[in-house]
Amino acid sequence: MTIKAAEVNKIKQAIPADGVLPIFHQRWSARAFADRDVAKEDLQRVFEAARWAPSSSNEQPWRYVVGTRGTETHRKVSESLAPSNRVWAQKAPVLMIAVAKTRFSQRDAPNLYAIHDMGAASAYLVLEAAALGLTTHQMAGFDREKARSLLEIPGEYDFGSAIALGYQGEPETLPNDELIKREIQPRERKGLGEFVFAEWGKGLF
Ligand SMILES: Cc1cc2nc3c(=O)[nH]c(=O)nc-3n(C[C@H](O)[C@H](O)[C@H](O)COP(=O)(O)O)c2cc1C
Repeated sequence: MTIKAAEVNKIKQAIPADGVLPIFHQRWSARAFADRDVAKEDLQRVFEAARWAPSSSNEQPWRYVVGTRGTETHRKVSESLAPSNRVWAQKAPVLMIAVAKTRFSQRDAPNLYAIHDMGAASAYLVLEAAALGLTTHQMAGFDREKARSLLEIPGEYDFGSAIALGYQGEPETLPNDELIKREIQPRERKGLGEFVFAEWGKGLF
Protein backbone atom coordinates (compact mmCIF):
# COMPACT_ATOMS: atom_id res chain seq x y z
CA MET A 1 0.00 0.00 0.00
CA THR A 2 1.42 3.38 -0.94
CA ILE A 3 1.20 6.30 1.43
CA LYS A 4 -0.41 9.40 0.00
CA ALA A 5 1.16 12.87 0.15
CA ALA A 6 -1.34 14.16 2.75
CA GLU A 7 -0.49 11.26 5.05
CA VAL A 8 3.26 11.91 4.62
CA ASN A 9 2.72 15.54 5.50
CA LYS A 10 1.11 14.43 8.78
CA ILE A 11 4.02 12.09 9.61
CA LYS A 12 6.47 14.95 9.03
CA GLN A 13 4.81 17.39 11.42
CA ALA A 14 6.80 18.07 14.58
CA ILE A 15 4.91 18.29 17.85
CA PRO A 16 3.69 21.86 18.25
CA ALA A 17 5.07 23.82 21.18
CA ASP A 18 3.06 26.44 23.01
CA GLY A 19 3.99 29.95 21.94
CA VAL A 20 6.18 28.87 19.00
CA LEU A 21 4.99 29.87 15.54
CA PRO A 22 3.41 26.73 14.00
CA ILE A 23 5.33 27.10 10.74
CA PHE A 24 8.60 26.08 12.44
CA HIS A 25 7.14 22.67 13.21
CA GLN A 26 5.20 22.30 9.97
CA ARG A 27 8.02 22.92 7.47
CA TRP A 28 9.87 19.88 6.16
CA SER A 29 11.97 19.05 3.09
CA ALA A 30 10.11 16.98 0.51
CA ARG A 31 11.76 15.13 -2.36
CA ALA A 32 8.56 14.28 -4.24
CA PHE A 33 7.30 17.28 -6.19
CA ALA A 34 3.88 17.65 -7.79
CA ASP A 35 3.62 18.54 -11.45
CA ARG A 36 2.37 22.03 -10.61
CA ASP A 37 3.99 25.37 -11.31
CA VAL A 38 4.46 28.06 -8.68
CA ALA A 39 2.72 31.37 -9.29
CA LYS A 40 5.13 34.24 -9.87
CA GLU A 41 3.49 36.18 -7.02
CA ASP A 42 4.25 33.36 -4.58
CA LEU A 43 7.82 33.12 -5.79
CA GLN A 44 8.17 36.85 -5.24
CA ARG A 45 6.74 36.46 -1.71
CA VAL A 46 9.43 33.98 -0.65
CA PHE A 47 12.16 36.38 -1.74
CA GLU A 48 10.39 39.28 -0.07
CA ALA A 49 10.69 37.27 3.17
CA ALA A 50 14.39 36.54 2.50
CA ARG A 51 14.93 40.22 1.83
CA TRP A 52 14.19 41.12 5.44
CA ALA A 53 16.69 38.77 7.05
CA PRO A 54 19.22 40.50 9.31
CA SER A 55 22.85 40.66 8.19
CA SER A 56 26.23 41.87 9.40
CA SER A 57 26.50 45.64 8.63
CA ASN A 58 23.20 45.20 6.77
CA GLU A 59 25.34 44.02 3.85
CA GLN A 60 22.63 41.63 2.58
CA PRO A 61 25.28 39.45 0.92
CA TRP A 62 22.83 36.84 -0.39
CA ARG A 63 22.06 36.39 -4.07
CA TYR A 64 19.75 33.76 -5.63
CA VAL A 65 19.97 32.52 -9.19
CA VAL A 66 16.49 31.18 -9.87
CA GLY A 67 15.23 29.00 -12.70
CA THR A 68 11.62 28.06 -13.33
CA ARG A 69 10.82 24.90 -15.25
CA GLY A 70 11.67 25.13 -18.93
CA THR A 71 14.25 27.89 -18.54
CA GLU A 72 17.97 27.61 -19.20
CA THR A 73 18.68 28.48 -15.57
CA HIS A 74 16.53 25.58 -14.35
CA ARG A 75 18.40 23.26 -16.69
CA LYS A 76 21.78 24.57 -15.56
CA VAL A 77 21.00 24.22 -11.84
CA SER A 78 19.68 20.72 -12.49
CA GLU A 79 22.82 19.82 -14.44
CA SER A 80 24.97 21.04 -11.53
CA LEU A 81 23.25 18.80 -8.99
CA ALA A 82 24.81 15.58 -7.76
CA PRO A 83 23.08 12.73 -9.62
CA SER A 84 21.61 11.47 -6.32
CA ASN A 85 19.83 14.82 -5.94
CA ARG A 86 19.08 15.38 -9.61
CA VAL A 87 16.96 12.22 -9.87
CA TRP A 88 14.26 13.76 -7.72
CA ALA A 89 15.01 17.51 -7.69
CA GLN A 90 14.81 17.96 -11.46
CA LYS A 91 11.02 17.61 -11.15
CA ALA A 92 10.78 20.68 -8.94
CA PRO A 93 9.22 23.59 -10.83
CA VAL A 94 11.76 25.98 -9.31
CA LEU A 95 15.48 25.31 -8.87
CA MET A 96 17.85 27.89 -7.50
CA ILE A 97 21.30 28.36 -6.05
CA ALA A 98 22.07 30.65 -3.15
CA VAL A 99 25.41 32.42 -3.07
CA ALA A 100 26.96 35.04 -0.81
CA LYS A 101 29.21 37.99 -1.58
CA THR A 102 32.33 37.34 0.47
CA ARG A 103 33.65 40.93 0.64
CA PHE A 104 31.92 44.00 1.99
CA SER A 105 30.69 46.46 -0.63
CA GLN A 106 31.45 49.64 1.34
CA ARG A 107 34.91 48.72 2.67
CA ASP A 108 37.76 46.62 1.42
CA ALA A 109 37.45 43.76 3.86
CA PRO A 110 36.27 40.16 3.84
CA ASN A 111 32.77 39.59 5.19
CA LEU A 112 33.28 36.65 7.51
CA TYR A 113 29.53 36.44 8.09
CA ALA A 114 28.47 36.31 4.45
CA ILE A 115 27.59 32.60 4.46
CA HIS A 116 25.99 32.93 7.88
CA ASP A 117 23.75 35.76 6.70
CA MET A 118 22.87 34.02 3.46
CA GLY A 119 21.79 31.03 5.55
CA ALA A 120 19.53 33.31 7.57
CA ALA A 121 17.96 34.65 4.37
CA SER A 122 17.42 31.11 3.12
CA ALA A 123 15.81 30.17 6.43
CA TYR A 124 13.35 33.05 6.00
CA LEU A 125 12.75 31.92 2.42
CA VAL A 126 11.95 28.30 3.27
CA LEU A 127 9.64 29.30 6.12
CA GLU A 128 7.70 31.73 3.94
CA ALA A 129 7.46 29.02 1.29
CA ALA A 130 6.00 26.64 3.88
CA ALA A 131 3.52 29.31 4.96
CA LEU A 132 2.38 29.54 1.34
CA GLY A 133 1.81 25.77 1.16
CA LEU A 134 4.99 25.16 -0.81
CA THR A 135 7.79 22.77 0.01
CA THR A 136 11.52 23.40 -0.33
CA HIS A 137 14.55 21.16 -0.21
CA GLN A 138 18.01 22.58 0.27
CA MET A 139 20.97 20.68 -1.16
CA ALA A 140 24.70 20.77 -0.55
CA GLY A 141 25.08 18.00 -3.10
CA PHE A 142 25.99 19.87 -6.27
CA ASP A 143 29.12 20.54 -8.27
CA ARG A 144 30.18 24.05 -7.33
CA GLU A 145 32.59 24.55 -10.18
CA LYS A 146 30.01 23.37 -12.68
CA ALA A 147 27.43 25.70 -11.14
CA ARG A 148 29.89 28.61 -11.14
CA SER A 149 30.75 28.11 -14.75
CA LEU A 150 27.24 27.33 -16.09
CA LEU A 151 25.57 30.13 -14.12
CA GLU A 152 28.45 32.58 -14.56
CA ILE A 153 28.77 33.25 -10.83
CA PRO A 154 31.67 35.65 -10.12
CA GLY A 155 34.61 34.39 -8.07
CA GLU A 156 33.95 36.64 -5.05
CA TYR A 157 30.65 34.85 -4.39
CA ASP A 158 30.73 31.71 -2.25
CA PHE A 159 28.14 28.96 -2.42
CA GLY A 160 25.28 28.25 -0.10
CA SER A 161 22.76 25.58 -0.97
CA ALA A 162 20.91 24.66 -4.11
CA ILE A 163 17.19 24.83 -3.35
CA ALA A 164 14.31 22.95 -4.97
CA LEU A 165 10.93 24.62 -4.50
CA GLY A 166 7.44 23.53 -5.47
CA TYR A 167 4.38 21.68 -4.22
CA GLN A 168 4.64 18.39 -2.37
CA GLY A 169 4.02 15.42 -4.66
CA GLU A 170 2.99 11.82 -4.16
CA PRO A 171 5.79 9.64 -2.73
CA GLU A 172 5.08 6.95 -5.32
CA THR A 173 6.37 9.30 -8.04
CA LEU A 174 9.89 9.07 -6.59
CA PRO A 175 12.26 7.02 -8.76
CA ASN A 176 13.29 4.38 -6.23
CA ASP A 177 12.33 2.63 -2.97
CA GLU A 178 15.17 4.18 -0.96
CA LEU A 179 13.87 7.68 -1.72
CA ILE A 180 10.31 6.62 -0.89
CA LYS A 181 11.57 5.26 2.43
CA ARG A 182 13.29 8.55 3.26
CA GLU A 183 10.25 10.53 2.16
CA ILE A 184 8.00 8.86 4.71
CA GLN A 185 10.44 8.79 7.65
CA PRO A 186 9.43 10.91 10.64
CA ARG A 187 11.72 13.87 11.29
CA GLU A 188 14.13 13.89 14.21
CA ARG A 189 15.95 16.57 16.15
CA LYS A 190 18.36 16.84 19.05
CA GLY A 191 16.83 17.80 22.39
CA LEU A 192 17.31 21.38 23.63
CA GLY A 193 19.66 20.11 26.34
CA GLU A 194 22.08 18.98 23.64
CA PHE A 195 22.63 22.41 22.16
CA VAL A 196 21.52 25.09 24.61
CA PHE A 197 24.02 25.32 27.42
CA ALA A 198 23.96 27.16 30.74
CA GLU A 199 27.61 26.18 31.00
CA TRP A 200 29.49 24.29 28.31
CA GLY A 201 27.91 20.87 28.01
CA LYS A 202 25.25 21.53 30.67
CA GLY A 203 21.80 22.00 29.23
CA LEU A 204 19.98 25.20 30.20
CA PHE A 205 16.60 23.44 29.96
C1 LIG B 1 22.62 23.23 3.74
C2 LIG B 1 21.81 21.98 3.53
C3 LIG B 1 22.25 21.00 2.66
C4 LIG B 1 21.47 19.87 2.42
N1 LIG B 1 21.89 18.97 1.44
C5 LIG B 1 21.06 17.98 1.06
C6 LIG B 1 21.38 17.19 -0.08
O1 LIG B 1 22.38 17.39 -0.77
N2 LIG B 1 20.52 16.19 -0.41
C7 LIG B 1 19.37 15.95 0.31
O2 LIG B 1 18.63 15.04 -0.07
N3 LIG B 1 19.03 16.71 1.37
C8 LIG B 1 19.84 17.73 1.77
N4 LIG B 1 19.49 18.55 2.81
C9 LIG B 1 18.22 18.33 3.53
C10 LIG B 1 18.46 17.84 4.97
O3 LIG B 1 18.84 16.49 4.95
C11 LIG B 1 17.20 18.08 5.81
O4 LIG B 1 16.96 19.46 5.91
C12 LIG B 1 17.33 17.48 7.21
O5 LIG B 1 17.41 16.08 7.15
C13 LIG B 1 16.17 17.86 8.10
O6 LIG B 1 14.95 17.48 7.52
P1 LIG B 1 13.76 18.53 7.33
O7 LIG B 1 14.29 19.69 6.51
O8 LIG B 1 12.70 17.75 6.60
O9 LIG B 1 13.35 18.96 8.70
C14 LIG B 1 20.25 19.68 3.10
C15 LIG B 1 19.80 20.66 4.00
C16 LIG B 1 20.56 21.81 4.21
C17 LIG B 1 20.04 22.87 5.14
